[in-house]
Formats: sequence, structure tokens, C-alpha cells
Amino acid sequence: MKRKYLIAGNWKMNAGGASGLELARGVAEGTKELAGRVEIVVAPPFTALAAVAQELEGTHVEVSAQNLYPKDSGAYTGEVSAPMLLESGARWVILGHSERRQYFGETDEFVREKVRAALAAGLRPIACIGETLEEREANRTLEVVFRQLDAIRDELASRPGVGVIAYEPVWAIGTGKVAGPEQAEEVHAAIRKRLAEFSAELADATRILYGGSVKADNAAGLLGMPNVDGALVGGASLDAAGFARIAQAAPER
Ligand code: PGA
Repeated sequence: MKRKYLIAGNWKMNAGGASGLELARGVAEGTKELAGRVEIVVAPPFTALAAVAQELEGTHVEVSAQNLYPKDSGAYTGEVSAPMLLESGARWVILGHSERRQYFGETDEFVREKVRAALAAGLRPIACIGETLEEREANRTLEVVFRQLDAIRDELASRPGVGVIAYEPVWAIGTGKVAGPEQAEEVHAAIRKRLAEFSAELADATRILYGGSVKADNAAGLLGMPNVDGALVGGASLDAAGFARIAQAAPER
């Protein structure tokens, strides 16, 4: 199966107001000629979701949230549900990001509940997995990545191809230390093989993005790898022109 490239910008806790609208306009303009060949997604903070979604209406760029709470509604002060995100115009949601796991104590089980809630509501999850430097140095990369993957595999298999996986080695996030193309490909191929042991259809249909210090000048090498189906971009997604150059680096497939 030909998997279409997906380039997603994770704005994290940035561009939550008027600057988000300007950034979104810049991304739509800068990636126009890729429409139909490369899927483009931007993930603003909650405060800018609805406005950015409205700004991007009628363009090829889709909007993602960065988190959700896995209940539809109720007394959960400060939380936001999947149906609310859909209503705000989001079509995607980033789940299990390492910053959520690290700073907010999200467990594999909680991430699984979130993936399930997203899919049940019709939101497409971008589920993040990845090892820390300590785990890599202890040769535990695949053990950790498979544990995180196995927790969400059933959920992803319920709608093959709807969800996306982002492999984000924690040591490469925001550090400037990007995984080399071969280093990324090795883990991506292992993830796909693990999915294939469970379901060939799931393995074939699931896009696996790489994330961690992706920039315009290293994107082509990563995106040229057979099991790298796109990128989840943090820091470099805050500059519309740089983000567009990353998306333009996706080769013909
Ligand atoms: P980075 O972040 O591109 O700034 O390393 C990636 C991410 O956390 O999704």
C-alpha cells in the first residue's frame, strides 16, 4: 500500500492566540503546492484550536489537538473531551507525547484509554512512543517502544490506517540531536514488523512518523527511508517557511 506522507506541526505551548492564526495562514500558503501529495496538520494549543480551524477552512491543512481527556463530558475541571475537540474543528489529536508521559505522569494504560476515546469520537490519533537516553544506552529501546506500542495496538487495529504512530526518541526532542536516518529506520522497521505480527493490514496501513529535532536540513534524509511516513515537528513548526521546507522534502512515493 502506498502510504501518503503526513507532516504534522506540534506547536506545544506556543502560538495560542493571534500569532497562531498568522502561523496557520503561513503554513497553508507555504505548502499549497503539496496538497493531495503530502498531508499537512498543525496542532495549536486548545485556546487557538477553533480559530485556527476556522482560518484553515477550505484549505488542505487539517487541525490537531495536543491532548484530550477520555470522557465525553462531566465534572472534570480543566479537561477537554474528544467530542469537544471535534466540535472545535480538530480532526486529529496528538496522544501520549513524551512530555505528557514525563511531566504529567501519563501511563501506557491512560494513553490507551485516550486513543480509544479519540477513535470512538471520530478523531484521528497521532500516538507517540519512544525511549529515553537512559533506556537507549541500556539497550532497552525496542523493549520500551514495543511496550508502549502493544498498549495501543488493539485500539489502532479497530480502525486500521485511521491512527498514526509517531516514533519520538525522547533524547532527540528539542535537543538538536536528531536520530540519523538509518537509526530511525531501524526502529520504524521494527515497529512495523511488530504490528505485522498482530495484523498485516494494520502494519501496511499505519503511517509511522519520526519526531525529534526534525529541521529543513535533515528532513530529506529521514523522509527518504522506506518506513518513515512523515514527521512530527516541534520547534521547527513554529516558523511557517521552515515547516513548509520540511514538507517539501518528502520525496515522491
Ligand atoms: P522537536 O519536538 O521537533 O522540537 O524536537 C518534536 C516533538 O516533541 O514532537
